Amino acid sequence: MSEQGDDGARPMAWVLGRLIESRWTLAAATVAVAVVAALPEPGWLVPALAIAGVAAVAIAAPRRMVVGRSREADRDGSDPLDGVGSRDLAAAVPDPMILFDAHGVIVHVNPAAVVAFGQLAPGMALHLRFRAPEMHALIEGVLADAATARAIDYVERVPLERVFRVTASAVGREDGLLALVFKDQSEARRIDRMRADFIANASHELRTPLASIAGFVETLRGPAKNDPSAREHFLKIMQDQTGRMARLIDDLLSLSRLEMKPYARTGTPLDVRGIVDAVVDSLGPLAAESGVTVERRMPDNPSWVSGDRDELFQVFENLLENAIKYGQSGGRVEVEIVPSATGARDGVQVRFRDYGPGIAEEHIPRITERFYRVDVESSRSRKGTGLGLAIVKHILTRHGGWLDVHSAVGSGSTFTAHFPPPTSAR
Ligand SMILES: Nc1ncnc2c1ncn2[C@@H]1O[C@H](COP(=O)(O)OP(=O)(O)OP(=O)(O)O)[C@@H](O)[C@H]1O
Ligand SMILES: [Mg+2]
Repeated sequence: MSEQGDDGARPMAWVLGRLIESRWTLAAATVAVAVVAALPEPGWLVPALAIAGVAAVAIAAPRRMVVGRSREADRDGSDPLDGVGSRDLAAAVPDPMILFDAHGVIVHVNPAAVVAFGQLAPGMALHLRFRAPEMHALIEGVLADAATARAIDYVERVPLERVFRVTASAVGREDGLLALVFKDQSEARRIDRMRADFIANASHELRTPLASIAGFVETLRGPAKNDPSAREHFLKIMQDQTGRMARLIDDLLSLSRLEMKPYARTGTPLDVRGIVDAVVDSLGPLAAESGVTVERRMPDNPSWVSGDRDELFQVFENLLENAIKYGQSGGRVEVEIVPSATGARDGVQVRFRDYGPGIAEEHIPRITERFYRVDVESSRSRKGTGLGLAIVKHILTRHGGWLDVHSAVGSGSTFTAHFPPPTSAR
């Protein structure tokens, strides 16, 4: 029923739409006919026929701006773009955009461009604001030949270095207006650089033990061929180096697995007391070997955290291992579980406090970066890969938590893993 009704209404709406579209023509024609009618004895038939004729022409006339019209516009005769100014359109563009004329003088600047480049007023010459030769060449080029859009990479150095892909093109066809649109590529460049650094670091970390193994193989086949004690010594070093390579590969695989699903929060509520206990027990031999006593401070009641048992084990193991390795000189490490306060938005915290040399302030923001080590040699001699805290940070993020580091040179460090309340408790 309703479909039939719609079908009947459609031709009517279409005719109405066309009449509205031609309203100015119609108005003009009506006035003309009214004037004719005002003449002495013109008769009414002639003007009425004239109006009908003009209406028929208006309906049959070829349509303006058919391209880009929406079905909505066809239906009710109004164009959704009517009343939208070019300033509104420019403001809706999220990238910086500058409109300029055939003399290279700024005509309009959208809000994103003001944010990116500060005060740029209409009337200002473009080449005074953008002095880089490549920008001059781009502007000159598009002024000379507006029909060809062109693009360059442009680096804005102050106040922060940002890299833009800048496109210059004509706006419309005949009005002599041109546009510069700036696409910020800084983030993409940063990620590219990080990827390149990561590959360089990983290759370097693998190449060092490999070079050492290759050197010892050569020695064992040559000068140390008939020296059983040297052979034993070198084989032991080679074993350590292969262990280091295996650890590095395990850590890299762990990281890439975590990065594939950075926000996958899964898991059932777990009592972290059991996990922390297991970690302290498993690192007992390392603590004994390092002359470090590990003190546990656990609450009597369960401390619930939603998550993956193995991943949480990895977090606590990394943090306790660091506290023992790097805080060895303090002779003591405290492991404390701080339960969630009733009604608090924060959940459980697990804290590792050592009394070692501490970490200088400038290193603290960087220690969770991949391969970052405060003292490369000391980390390597302790079989560190520099990936431990990067993995900790990833796992905590996956669990909706975060890592907090407090340290002062000479008085040790406190690493705290914060967790949100378990899903069922929220
Ligand atoms: N408790 C700590 N006290 C002093 N320095 C620390 C402590 N924990 C970490 N660091 C510093 O932060 C760096 C990065 O630690 P991270 O755990 O990421 O790597 P690593 O221990 O060198 O290697 P991995 O954990 O992969 O075996 C360490 O090399 C060390 O310099
Ligand atoms: Mg570590």
